[in-house]
Amino acid sequence: MKWILVAGARPNFMKIAPIYKEIQAHPEITPILVHTGQHYTPEMSDVFFKQLHLPEPDIDLEVGSHSHAVQTAEIMIRFEKVLIQEQPQLIIVVGDVNSTIACALTASKLKIKVAHVEAGLRSFDRDMPEEINRILTDAISDYLFITESSARQNLLCEGIPEEKIFFVGNTMIDTLVSHLPISKQSRILDTLHIKEKQYVLVTLHRPSNVDHQEDLSPIIDVLGKIAGYLPVVFPVHPRTLKQMETFGLDLSKLISVPPLGYYDFLELMSQARCVLTDSGGIQEETSILGVPCITLRENTERPVTVELGTNRVVGKNPDKIMEAFIYVYQNSSEKKIEIPLWDGHAAERIVKELVSSHGAFL
Ligand code: UD1
Repeated sequence: MKWILVAGARPNFMKIAPIYKEIQAHPEITPILVHTGQHYTPEMSDVFFKQLHLPEPDIDLEVGSHSHAVQTAEIMIRFEKVLIQEQPQLIIVVGDVNSTIACALTASKLKIKVAHVEAGLRSFDRDMPEEINRILTDAISDYLFITESSARQNLLCEGIPEEKIFFVGNTMIDTLVSHLPISKQSRILDTLHIKEKQYVLVTLHRPSNVDHQEDLSPIIDVLGKIAGYLPVVFPVHPRTLKQMETFGLDLSKLISVPPLGYYDFLELMSQARCVLTDSGGIQEETSILGVPCITLRENTERPVTVELGTNRVVGKNPDKIMEAFIYVYQNSSEKKIEIPLWDGHAAERIVKELVSSHGAFL
């Protein structure tokens, strides 16, 4: 059997790596790793392949950065040629980025089975490009692997048949669990002259927070105020860097650094007093690490991180952000979190399910 695994943007690499590794235990399956090239710079892509022990991609579509339509269309044009050439029985896509929907749609039109990992998450906010990608990918996928129980309800409400839905856990957490020990070798705290539990970690890249000066500028101001309490470490995403340069924003009160590799970032996350973010995956990772997370968004598609984890969704109002930070600063306590099936074995469940149903797509 030939299976194609698709990865395109930074968060995809952590989600696909344990699935790739698990497939290697099955000699009857030939995995083909396709990188769409949505993320392509060394710090957004190569470092993750190395640190997660992923091989060089078998095929790199080298699509690069463009508008949504051009990026999605270019991936489809290039991926269709790969599918025609390779004739796989199945493709596996992860997450909610443009590469996810582009490859799922291309395969689906060629009647190749599609497995979507991290299906069913919904923010109910269609202004987010990822929400459109999630809804469309789920509508055309054959196997929907979900990370939390809210996803089942969302999918059922959209008319997805129950028998296509599999609750398997979270492959991003598989990667976290297996790499936490090696991340302890990172010297990033020394390099940045910070001490455990004595700094705040920030990430920002959502268009709704960074693309307009009237949104980004007040967020940077409130981060400056937080830096009056604890050092604020800010690995800056390329999109955010571009916008900050355009708007001429002053980052001098923060410890801003380029995007970091997986080990350094995991170490920084696990030792932070709290994390402020607009990322999806970081809401999940901080929950499992027991580190308080303040989410600078109006909603989350990952409600389990609020119900059982460490997440507080506060939006982008500076007063609310400050209020949440002060609360966490004054009330920090270590919390042992357990979320159903976030146990490091999601990839095993996914591959087992796909192998046992393989008769359906041979
Ligand atoms: C994309 C995903 C988002 C995900 C995020 C993680 C979509 C719609 N968005 O957003 O869901 O959370 O990745 O990072 O798929 N750039 C580089 N180097 C790279 C790639 C991009 O410098 O390797 C710069 C380019 O200037 C580009 C900008 O970053 O224009 C944005 O990249 P893009 O992939 O379009 O979107 P992200 O904001 O990264």
